[in-house]
Amino acid sequence: MADIKKGLAGVIADTTEISKVNPETNSLLYRGYPVQELALTQPFEAVAHLLWHGDLPTDEQLADFRAKEREHRALPDAVQTVMDALPTTAHPMDVVRTAVSILGASDPQAEDASADLDKAFRLFAVLPAVVSYEQRRRNGQELVAPRDDLDYAANFLWMSFGEEADPVVVDAFNQSMVLYAEHSFNASTFTARVITSTLADLHSAVTGAVGALKGHLHGGANEAVMEVFHEVGSADRADAWMQTALDEKRKIMGFGHRVYKNGDSRVPTMRAALERLVEHYDRPDMLDIYNALERAMADRKPIKPNLDFPSGPAYALMGFDVPIFTPLFVAARVTGWTAHIIEQRANNALIRPLSEYVGPDERHVPGVDTAALPEDTSTIEETE
Ligand code: COA
Repeated sequence: MADIKKGLAGVIADTTEISKVNPETNSLLYRGYPVQELALTQPFEAVAHLLWHGDLPTDEQLADFRAKEREHRALPDAVQTVMDALPTTAHPMDVVRTAVSILGASDPQAEDASADLDKAFRLFAVLPAVVSYEQRRRNGQELVAPRDDLDYAANFLWMSFGEEADPVVVDAFNQSMVLYAEHSFNASTFTARVITSTLADLHSAVTGAVGALKGHLHGGANEAVMEVFHEVGSADRADAWMQTALDEKRKIMGFGHRVYKNGDSRVPTMRAALERLVEHYDRPDMLDIYNALERAMADRKPIKPNLDFPSGPAYALMGFDVPIFTPLFVAARVTGWTAHIIEQRANNALIRPLSEYVGPDERHVPGVDTAALPEDTSTIEETE
């Protein structure tokens, strides 16, 4: 049997200049900058600029970037029409995936790879309208138009809830967007790179990435964390709940990571934001459950929380429905995905691994006269 890297664990598939994950030091760098420093100091727009262009914007560049972002915020009629045709019971990730697909099919530059950066920008600018409209549509509420006087994070919250959010909430939301923006060759980003490697268009790659992000072992974990919070109910039940869940060999959502084995460097920043939200909304029960679950896990296994653990309750406090959490992750990660799509295209090689075949030996379809088949003169260079 060949040496199989199940789940591609430990495989270095390519180089990247976009981000560095260092599991030994638990650090995550975007273009060299520690993510926690970016989250505390930068608006999400500046981080998008950093991921795409390699450096933080000057004040003038940021002003231009923000002006352009405002131009592309409105939900196109075609997208709203299709969203309205979908059942309100559909999973919001399916709705977002469909919206990205429509945006691609109606983009005049869909097939123009040299316009990838422009297409990435337009997607980044319009996704808040898609996600916030989905938050409202599933609750029977009308679309809220974007506001030109608000920056990205404040406008996103405005379109979601139809009221101006408190600065504490805007700040926490902005930090979550920065922390979710990029994470090297994670499953959805790798999906986007695989699709790009076939020379397919940017929207196809992002549509595939949305599908990959949906699963509970990836982006869907922030939703699943809230299901755990609801199941646990109160802090005094956390210890018994954890014991039962681990006895049943359940994976506890929001804990563990394929790369970080000693903790996730994004957690302290998001946890601090969650603490401020808990104070703002006067919901100490939320932090009590958080702490009790973290302690209950630490008492039994050396498995630490990942970013989804604090971001799930943070989004719940802000008022988002649980199934909207992963679409919020999409709005953030579209920046990282598209930076990787552009990088992949600039130095492309088709991504096509091999497999070890363990099915039946060669056999013939009953009734086939093999001598009568056309002669096959092809040769095989790689075995599979
Ligand atoms: N709950 C309980 N046990 C866990 C666990 C979790 N969340 N994460 C890992 N473990 C255990 C595994 O059961 C395994 O134990 P074993 O050696 O006794 O079999 C050990 O830790 C190693 O786990 P493994 O599954 O090899 O880690 P992985 O790198 O393949 O998985 C995840 C990483 C993220 C898929 C996994 O931690 C997980 O499913 N977490 C929950 C989902 C989640 O929060 N995802 C978001 C990631 S950002």
